[in-house]
Amino acid sequence: MKKLSILLIVGVVLIFVISCSSSPSSSTSSTSTISTTSTTSTTSTTSTTSGGATFQSVANLGQTVFSANCATCHGATGGGGVGPALWGSGAALAKYTTAQGLLNKMATTMPQSSPGSLTHEQYLDVLAYVMVQGNQVTGSTAFVESGLSGITLK
Ligand code: HEC
Repeated sequence: MKKLSILLIVGVVLIFVISCSSSPSSSTSSTSTISTTSTTSTTSTTSTTSGGATFQSVANLGQTVFSANCATCHGATGGGGVGPALWGSGAALAKYTTAQGLLNKMATTMPQSSPGSLTHEQYLDVLAYVMVQGNQVTGSTAFVESGLSGITLK
């Protein structure tokens, strides 16, 4: 009787130890699988976001910048006023050669009443807006700052 119950206890303890030692290892591996997966998806989400900006999405921000800082002189629809037209008939931006050239013009001389007073982001935003409005690019074109010098103006 005693031997049997000792065997039983040993057996139960063994089963307990085996199940305990195997379950953490299996849960560890499943945890690491999950964290690997989530890390991967986080990374791809981030890269999609940063690489996913298009001229249209940036232009949506630029519309507000334009209304607040440029429209008084260039017209609410960009047709010109005190300042020249920026898109539509009469617009003549080709002389700035590339999107980078146009950005430089805006950032160093505009708003004419207070040159350089906007943030770098705001100049990028309004650049995208002016370019989309003027059909200088299609809205779905990726907006990458380092690529602006590769976009030729019409
Ligand atoms: C106080 C009036 C005024 C405001 C505000 C203003 N501009 Fe101008 N802008 C002008 C005048 C005048 C010119 C023409 C002289 C020149 O090119 O510097 C001009 C020229 C420009 C040109 C060159 C156009 C060409 O045909 O060569 C661009 C681009 C431009 N502005 C963009 C902007 C943007 C973007 C804003 C808002 C951030 C802005 N301007 C705000 C008065 C203004």
